[in-house]
Amino acid sequence: MQNRSFKAMIVEEKEEKNFTRRIGEKSVEELPPGDVLIEVAYSSLNYKDALSCIGNRGVTRRYPHTPGIDAAGVVAHSDAPEVREGDEVLVTGYDLGMNTSGGFGRMIRVPADWVVPLPEGLTLRESMIYGTAGFTAALCVLHITDQGVEKDSGDVLVTGATGGVGSMATSMLARSGYRVAAVSGKSDREAFLKRLGAAEVIAREEVMDESAKPLLKGRWAAAVDTVGGDMLASVLKAAALHAVVSACGNVAGFQLNTTVFPFILRGVRLMGADSANCPRKLRLRAWEKIATDWKLPHLEEMTTEAALEDLDPFIDDILQAKISGRTLVRLTD
Ligand SMILES: NC(=O)c1ccc[n+]([C@@H]2O[C@H](COP(=O)([O-])OP(=O)(O)OC[C@H]3O[C@@H](n4cnc5c(N)ncnc54)[C@H](OP(=O)(O)O)[C@@H]3O)[C@@H](O)[C@H]2O)c1
Repeated sequence: MQNRSFKAMIVEEKEEKNFTRRIGEKSVEELPPGDVLIEVAYSSLNYKDALSCIGNRGVTRRYPHTPGIDAAGVVAHSDAPEVREGDEVLVTGYDLGMNTSGGFGRMIRVPADWVVPLPEGLTLRESMIYGTAGFTAALCVLHITDQGVEKDSGDVLVTGATGGVGSMATSMLARSGYRVAAVSGKSDREAFLKRLGAAEVIAREEVMDESAKPLLKGRWAAAVDTVGGDMLASVLKAAALHAVVSACGNVAGFQLNTTVFPFILRGVRLMGADSANCPRKLRLRAWEKIATDWKLPHLEEMTTEAALEDLDPFIDDILQAKISGRTLVRLTD
Protein backbone atom coordinates (compact mmCIF):
# COMPACT_ATOMS: atom_id res chain seq x y z
CA MET A 1 0.00 0.00 0.00
CA GLN A 2 2.83 2.41 0.95
CA ASN A 3 4.30 2.28 -2.55
CA ARG A 4 1.02 2.83 -4.30
CA SER A 5 1.05 5.92 -6.45
CA PHE A 6 -2.00 8.06 -7.13
CA LYS A 7 -3.13 11.03 -9.19
CA ALA A 8 -3.14 14.42 -7.49
CA MET A 9 -3.07 18.13 -8.17
CA ILE A 10 0.31 19.46 -7.09
CA VAL A 11 0.72 23.17 -6.42
CA GLU A 12 4.37 24.25 -6.30
CA GLU A 13 6.23 27.49 -5.69
CA LYS A 14 8.60 27.71 -8.65
CA GLU A 15 10.25 30.90 -7.50
CA GLU A 16 9.26 33.27 -4.74
CA LYS A 17 5.51 33.98 -4.94
CA ASN A 18 5.23 32.32 -8.36
CA PHE A 19 2.99 29.27 -8.05
CA THR A 20 2.21 26.65 -10.68
CA ARG A 21 -0.16 23.72 -10.58
CA ARG A 22 -0.18 20.41 -12.44
CA ILE A 23 -1.76 16.99 -12.24
CA GLY A 24 0.96 14.52 -11.26
CA GLU A 25 1.64 11.33 -9.34
CA LYS A 26 2.24 11.07 -5.58
CA SER A 27 2.88 8.00 -3.48
CA VAL A 28 0.94 6.97 -0.38
CA GLU A 29 4.25 7.14 1.49
CA GLU A 30 4.26 10.93 1.01
CA LEU A 31 0.92 11.33 2.82
CA PRO A 32 0.99 12.53 6.43
CA PRO A 33 0.59 9.97 9.23
CA GLY A 34 -3.00 9.12 10.19
CA ASP A 35 -5.29 6.25 11.16
CA VAL A 36 -7.41 6.10 8.03
CA LEU A 37 -6.39 5.89 4.37
CA ILE A 38 -9.23 6.81 2.00
CA GLU A 39 -9.57 6.31 -1.75
CA VAL A 40 -11.28 9.52 -2.81
CA ALA A 41 -14.08 9.39 -5.38
CA TYR A 42 -15.25 13.01 -5.27
CA SER A 43 -14.19 16.37 -3.89
CA SER A 44 -15.61 19.83 -4.48
CA LEU A 45 -14.33 23.32 -5.24
CA ASN A 46 -14.69 25.93 -2.48
CA TYR A 47 -13.40 29.50 -2.39
CA LYS A 48 -10.76 28.40 0.14
CA ASP A 49 -9.51 25.70 -2.28
CA ALA A 50 -9.01 28.31 -4.97
CA LEU A 51 -6.92 30.38 -2.54
CA SER A 52 -4.79 27.32 -1.73
CA CYS A 53 -4.39 26.65 -5.47
CA ILE A 54 -2.87 30.09 -6.06
CA GLY A 55 -0.45 30.04 -3.13
CA ASN A 56 -2.40 31.98 -0.50
CA ARG A 57 -0.32 31.53 2.69
CA GLY A 58 -3.32 32.41 4.85
CA VAL A 59 -4.76 29.03 3.79
CA THR A 60 -1.66 26.93 3.00
CA ARG A 61 1.73 27.65 4.53
CA ARG A 62 3.75 24.80 2.99
CA TYR A 63 4.17 23.96 -0.69
CA PRO A 64 4.31 21.71 -2.71
CA HIS A 65 0.77 20.93 -1.72
CA THR A 66 -2.40 19.14 -2.82
CA PRO A 67 -5.50 21.29 -2.04
CA GLY A 68 -9.06 20.07 -1.47
CA ILE A 69 -10.84 20.73 1.85
CA ASP A 70 -13.53 18.15 0.96
CA ALA A 71 -13.27 14.45 0.15
CA ALA A 72 -15.66 11.51 -0.06
CA GLY A 73 -14.62 7.96 -0.80
CA VAL A 74 -14.03 4.45 0.45
CA VAL A 75 -11.75 3.44 3.33
CA ALA A 76 -8.73 1.59 1.91
CA HIS A 77 -7.05 0.93 5.27
CA SER A 78 -7.86 1.74 8.89
CA ASP A 79 -5.99 1.43 12.17
CA ALA A 80 -9.05 2.69 14.10
CA PRO A 81 -11.66 0.19 15.33
CA GLU A 82 -14.59 2.55 14.63
CA VAL A 83 -13.71 2.90 10.93
CA ARG A 84 -13.62 -0.23 8.76
CA GLU A 85 -12.01 -0.97 5.43
CA GLY A 86 -14.67 -0.63 2.71
CA ASP A 87 -16.75 1.96 4.64
CA GLU A 88 -18.09 4.88 2.60
CA VAL A 89 -17.03 8.07 4.37
CA LEU A 90 -16.54 11.79 3.97
CA VAL A 91 -14.10 14.31 5.41
CA THR A 92 -14.58 18.08 5.37
CA GLY A 93 -12.56 20.76 7.10
CA TYR A 94 -10.08 20.31 9.93
CA ASP A 95 -6.70 20.69 8.26
CA LEU A 96 -7.63 18.74 5.12
CA GLY A 97 -6.47 20.56 1.99
CA MET A 98 -4.86 23.32 4.03
CA ASN A 99 -1.53 21.86 5.17
CA THR A 100 -2.69 18.23 4.95
CA SER A 101 -2.73 16.72 1.45
CA GLY A 102 -6.37 17.13 0.38
CA GLY A 103 -9.22 15.88 -1.74
CA PHE A 104 -7.71 17.02 -5.06
CA GLY A 105 -5.76 13.76 -4.83
CA ARG A 106 -7.09 10.20 -5.25
CA MET A 107 -5.83 9.20 -1.76
CA ILE A 108 -5.88 11.00 1.60
CA ARG A 109 -4.71 9.87 5.04
CA VAL A 110 -6.35 11.48 8.08
CA PRO A 111 -6.97 11.00 11.82
CA ALA A 112 -10.00 8.79 12.55
CA ASP A 113 -11.87 11.58 14.34
CA TRP A 114 -12.00 13.61 11.11
CA VAL A 115 -13.93 10.82 9.39
CA VAL A 116 -17.74 11.04 9.11
CA PRO A 117 -19.68 7.95 7.98
CA LEU A 118 -21.56 8.70 4.77
CA PRO A 119 -25.06 9.59 6.04
CA GLU A 120 -27.81 7.19 5.00
CA GLY A 121 -29.74 8.76 2.12
CA LEU A 122 -26.73 10.35 0.42
CA THR A 123 -24.40 8.95 -2.22
CA LEU A 124 -20.70 9.84 -2.19
CA ARG A 125 -21.34 12.09 -5.18
CA GLU A 126 -24.27 13.89 -3.53
CA SER A 127 -22.31 14.39 -0.32
CA MET A 128 -19.67 16.31 -2.25
CA ILE A 129 -22.22 18.45 -4.08
CA TYR A 130 -22.98 19.70 -0.56
CA GLY A 131 -19.35 19.51 0.64
CA THR A 132 -18.07 22.25 2.94
CA ALA A 133 -20.41 24.79 1.32
CA GLY A 134 -23.54 22.75 2.06
CA PHE A 135 -22.27 21.79 5.49
CA THR A 136 -21.59 25.45 6.35
CA ALA A 137 -24.99 26.48 5.02
CA ALA A 138 -26.53 23.82 7.28
CA LEU A 139 -24.66 25.23 10.32
CA CYS A 140 -25.98 28.73 9.50
CA VAL A 141 -29.56 27.48 9.05
CA LEU A 142 -29.26 25.59 12.36
CA HIS A 143 -28.31 28.89 14.03
CA ILE A 144 -31.57 30.38 12.76
CA THR A 145 -33.81 27.44 13.62
CA ASP A 146 -32.17 26.67 16.99
CA GLN A 147 -32.47 30.31 18.06
CA GLY A 148 -36.21 30.06 17.50
CA VAL A 149 -36.75 32.27 14.43
CA GLU A 150 -40.22 31.20 13.26
CA LYS A 151 -41.14 30.79 9.59
CA ASP A 152 -43.63 33.66 9.84
CA SER A 153 -41.21 36.02 11.68
CA GLY A 154 -40.32 37.85 8.45
CA ASP A 155 -37.85 37.72 5.58
CA VAL A 156 -34.55 35.84 5.82
CA LEU A 157 -31.71 37.43 3.85
CA VAL A 158 -28.94 35.43 2.17
CA THR A 159 -25.92 37.34 0.83
CA GLY A 160 -23.60 36.02 -1.90
CA ALA A 161 -26.65 33.98 -2.84
CA THR A 162 -25.39 32.44 -6.10
CA GLY A 163 -22.17 31.22 -4.42
CA GLY A 164 -21.65 27.74 -2.99
CA VAL A 165 -22.71 28.50 0.59
CA GLY A 166 -25.29 31.09 -0.51
CA SER A 167 -27.09 28.85 -3.00
CA MET A 168 -27.18 25.99 -0.48
CA ALA A 169 -28.47 28.28 2.30
CA THR A 170 -31.11 29.76 -0.01
CA SER A 171 -32.37 26.27 -0.88
CA MET A 172 -32.29 24.92 2.68
CA LEU A 173 -34.12 27.94 4.11
CA ALA A 174 -36.77 27.85 1.39
CA ARG A 175 -37.21 24.11 1.94
CA SER A 176 -37.69 24.81 5.67
CA GLY A 177 -40.54 27.21 4.87
CA TYR A 178 -38.81 30.59 5.32
CA ARG A 179 -39.38 33.48 2.90
CA VAL A 180 -35.91 34.04 1.44
CA ALA A 181 -34.61 37.32 0.05
CA ALA A 182 -31.48 36.48 -1.95
CA VAL A 183 -28.82 39.17 -2.48
CA SER A 184 -26.68 38.79 -5.56
CA GLY A 185 -24.30 40.79 -7.70
CA LYS A 186 -25.32 38.71 -10.75
CA SER A 187 -28.40 40.30 -12.30
CA ASP A 188 -28.68 37.47 -14.85
CA ARG A 189 -29.08 34.78 -12.14
CA GLU A 190 -32.48 35.82 -10.83
CA ALA A 191 -34.30 32.88 -12.45
CA PHE A 192 -31.70 30.45 -11.02
CA LEU A 193 -32.18 31.83 -7.49
CA LYS A 194 -35.97 31.72 -7.81
CA ARG A 195 -35.77 28.07 -8.87
CA LEU A 196 -33.77 27.39 -5.71
CA GLY A 197 -36.68 28.85 -3.73
CA ALA A 198 -35.83 32.55 -3.27
CA ALA A 199 -39.03 34.59 -3.01
CA GLU A 200 -37.19 37.75 -3.99
CA VAL A 201 -33.82 38.62 -5.52
CA ILE A 202 -32.18 41.87 -4.45
CA ALA A 203 -29.20 43.66 -6.03
CA ARG A 204 -26.15 44.12 -3.76
CA GLU A 205 -26.36 47.93 -3.98
CA GLU A 206 -29.85 47.82 -2.54
CA VAL A 207 -28.63 46.22 0.67
CA MET A 208 -25.29 48.02 1.01
CA ASP A 209 -25.56 51.12 3.19
CA GLU A 210 -22.60 53.44 3.42
CA SER A 211 -24.39 56.14 5.42
CA ALA A 212 -23.30 57.04 8.95
CA LYS A 213 -26.66 55.88 10.34
CA PRO A 214 -26.13 53.22 13.00
CA LEU A 215 -29.56 51.64 12.37
CA LEU A 216 -31.94 51.37 9.42
CA LYS A 217 -35.52 50.15 9.25
CA GLY A 218 -35.51 46.57 10.61
CA ARG A 219 -36.08 44.40 7.50
CA TRP A 220 -34.58 40.99 8.22
CA ALA A 221 -35.84 38.45 10.76
CA ALA A 222 -32.65 36.50 10.11
CA ALA A 223 -29.73 36.46 7.70
CA VAL A 224 -27.00 34.20 6.40
CA ASP A 225 -24.02 36.34 5.43
CA THR A 226 -21.37 34.68 3.27
CA VAL A 227 -19.72 37.97 2.26
CA GLY A 228 -18.52 39.83 5.39
CA GLY A 229 -17.08 43.37 5.36
CA ASP A 230 -19.42 46.27 4.64
CA MET A 231 -22.16 43.89 3.53
CA LEU A 232 -22.32 42.30 6.98
CA ALA A 233 -22.24 45.76 8.59
CA SER A 234 -25.19 46.80 6.38
CA VAL A 235 -27.12 43.63 7.20
CA LEU A 236 -26.69 44.26 10.94
CA LYS A 237 -28.03 47.82 10.59
CA ALA A 238 -31.21 46.52 8.93
CA ALA A 239 -31.69 43.46 11.16
CA ALA A 240 -35.12 43.46 12.81
CA LEU A 241 -35.84 43.18 16.52
CA HIS A 242 -34.21 40.00 17.92
CA ALA A 243 -32.99 38.90 14.49
CA VAL A 244 -30.38 36.14 14.14
CA VAL A 245 -27.50 36.89 11.78
CA SER A 246 -25.25 33.95 10.97
CA ALA A 247 -21.89 35.01 9.50
CA CYS A 248 -19.54 32.63 7.73
CA GLY A 249 -17.62 34.42 4.98
CA ASN A 250 -15.25 37.23 4.08
CA VAL A 251 -15.15 37.45 0.27
CA ALA A 252 -15.84 41.21 0.56
CA GLY A 253 -13.46 41.76 3.47
CA PHE A 254 -12.73 40.72 7.03
CA GLN A 255 -13.08 44.11 8.74
CA LEU A 256 -16.43 44.69 10.41
CA ASN A 257 -17.28 48.35 11.01
CA THR A 258 -20.36 48.35 13.15
CA THR A 259 -21.81 49.81 16.36
CA VAL A 260 -23.24 48.20 19.45
CA PHE A 261 -26.75 49.49 18.61
CA PRO A 262 -28.06 46.46 16.67
CA PHE A 263 -27.13 44.35 19.71
CA ILE A 264 -28.21 46.57 22.61
CA LEU A 265 -31.26 48.29 21.08
CA ARG A 266 -32.63 45.43 18.98
CA GLY A 267 -31.21 42.35 20.70
CA VAL A 268 -29.72 41.17 17.40
CA ARG A 269 -27.79 37.92 17.77
CA LEU A 270 -24.66 37.63 15.61
CA MET A 271 -23.52 34.00 15.35
CA GLY A 272 -20.36 32.71 13.69
CA ALA A 273 -20.14 29.48 11.70
CA ASP A 274 -16.87 27.54 11.72
CA SER A 275 -17.15 24.46 9.56
CA ALA A 276 -13.51 23.41 9.89
CA ASN A 277 -13.40 22.75 13.63
CA CYS A 278 -17.09 22.20 14.24
CA PRO A 279 -17.56 19.82 17.20
CA ARG A 280 -18.35 16.25 16.20
CA LYS A 281 -21.84 16.11 17.74
CA LEU A 282 -22.97 19.21 15.80
CA ARG A 283 -21.14 17.96 12.70
CA LEU A 284 -23.10 14.69 12.69
CA ARG A 285 -26.36 16.55 13.38
CA ALA A 286 -25.80 18.92 10.43
CA TRP A 287 -25.03 16.00 8.06
CA GLU A 288 -28.14 14.18 9.30
CA LYS A 289 -30.26 17.25 8.44
CA ILE A 290 -28.59 17.49 5.01
CA ALA A 291 -29.43 13.85 4.27
CA THR A 292 -33.06 14.16 5.40
CA ASP A 293 -35.06 17.40 5.84
CA TRP A 294 -32.61 19.49 3.80
CA LYS A 295 -32.01 17.01 0.99
CA LEU A 296 -32.48 19.39 -1.91
CA PRO A 297 -34.53 18.74 -5.03
CA HIS A 298 -32.32 20.98 -7.22
CA LEU A 299 -28.95 19.38 -6.52
CA GLU A 300 -28.16 18.64 -10.16
CA GLU A 301 -29.29 22.06 -11.32
CA MET A 302 -26.86 23.76 -8.97
CA THR A 303 -23.94 21.48 -9.89
CA THR A 304 -21.24 21.57 -12.54
CA GLU A 305 -19.09 18.43 -12.56
CA ALA A 306 -15.44 18.58 -13.59
CA ALA A 307 -12.67 16.00 -13.70
CA LEU A 308 -9.60 16.94 -11.65
CA GLU A 309 -7.72 17.52 -14.91
CA ASP A 310 -10.29 20.11 -16.05
CA LEU A 311 -10.46 22.22 -12.91
CA ASP A 312 -8.27 25.20 -13.93
CA PRO A 313 -10.97 27.45 -15.44
CA PHE A 314 -13.26 26.85 -12.48
CA ILE A 315 -10.50 27.94 -10.08
CA ASP A 316 -10.11 31.19 -12.02
CA ASP A 317 -13.88 31.71 -12.11
CA ILE A 318 -14.50 31.18 -8.38
CA LEU A 319 -11.77 33.73 -7.59
CA GLN A 320 -13.59 36.26 -9.79
CA ALA A 321 -17.02 35.45 -8.29
CA LYS A 322 -18.20 34.13 -11.66
CA ILE A 323 -19.47 30.74 -10.45
CA SER A 324 -23.07 29.94 -9.55
CA GLY A 325 -23.81 26.96 -7.32
CA ARG A 326 -21.36 24.13 -6.74
CA THR A 327 -18.46 22.63 -8.65
CA LEU A 328 -18.13 18.89 -8.04
CA VAL A 329 -14.66 17.43 -8.61
CA ARG A 330 -14.45 13.88 -9.96
CA LEU A 331 -11.37 11.89 -8.98
CA THR A 332 -12.34 8.58 -10.61
CA ASP A 333 -11.26 7.87 -14.18
N1 LIG B 1 -16.83 29.83 8.14
C1 LIG B 1 -16.73 28.72 7.47
O1 LIG B 1 -16.62 27.64 8.03
C2 LIG B 1 -16.79 28.76 5.97
C3 LIG B 1 -17.07 27.62 5.22
C4 LIG B 1 -17.20 27.73 3.82
C5 LIG B 1 -17.02 28.97 3.22
N2 LIG B 1 -16.67 30.02 4.00
C6 LIG B 1 -16.47 31.33 3.41
O2 LIG B 1 -17.74 31.76 2.90
C7 LIG B 1 -17.52 32.57 1.76
C8 LIG B 1 -18.28 31.98 0.57
O3 LIG B 1 -17.72 30.73 0.23
P1 LIG B 1 -18.20 29.98 -1.09
O4 LIG B 1 -17.40 28.72 -1.17
O5 LIG B 1 -19.69 29.95 -1.11
O6 LIG B 1 -17.66 31.01 -2.19
P2 LIG B 1 -18.24 31.33 -3.65
O7 LIG B 1 -18.88 30.13 -4.23
O8 LIG B 1 -17.13 31.99 -4.35
O9 LIG B 1 -19.39 32.39 -3.36
C9 LIG B 1 -19.15 33.69 -2.92
C10 LIG B 1 -20.24 34.61 -3.47
O10 LIG B 1 -20.15 35.87 -2.79
C11 LIG B 1 -20.54 36.92 -3.67
N3 LIG B 1 -19.42 37.88 -3.74
C12 LIG B 1 -18.18 37.68 -4.23
N4 LIG B 1 -17.41 38.77 -4.11
C13 LIG B 1 -18.20 39.70 -3.51
C14 LIG B 1 -18.00 41.06 -3.11
N5 LIG B 1 -16.82 41.67 -3.29
N6 LIG B 1 -19.02 41.71 -2.52
C15 LIG B 1 -20.22 41.11 -2.33
N7 LIG B 1 -20.48 39.82 -2.69
C16 LIG B 1 -19.48 39.14 -3.27
C17 LIG B 1 -20.82 36.26 -5.02
O11 LIG B 1 -22.21 35.96 -5.07
P3 LIG B 1 -23.27 36.91 -5.83
O12 LIG B 1 -22.65 37.21 -7.16
O13 LIG B 1 -24.50 36.08 -5.92
O14 LIG B 1 -23.42 38.15 -5.00
C18 LIG B 1 -20.07 34.95 -4.95
O15 LIG B 1 -20.61 33.99 -5.81
C19 LIG B 1 -16.00 32.63 1.56
O16 LIG B 1 -15.48 33.76 2.23
C20 LIG B 1 -15.51 31.37 2.25
O17 LIG B 1 -14.18 31.47 2.65
C21 LIG B 1 -16.55 29.95 5.34
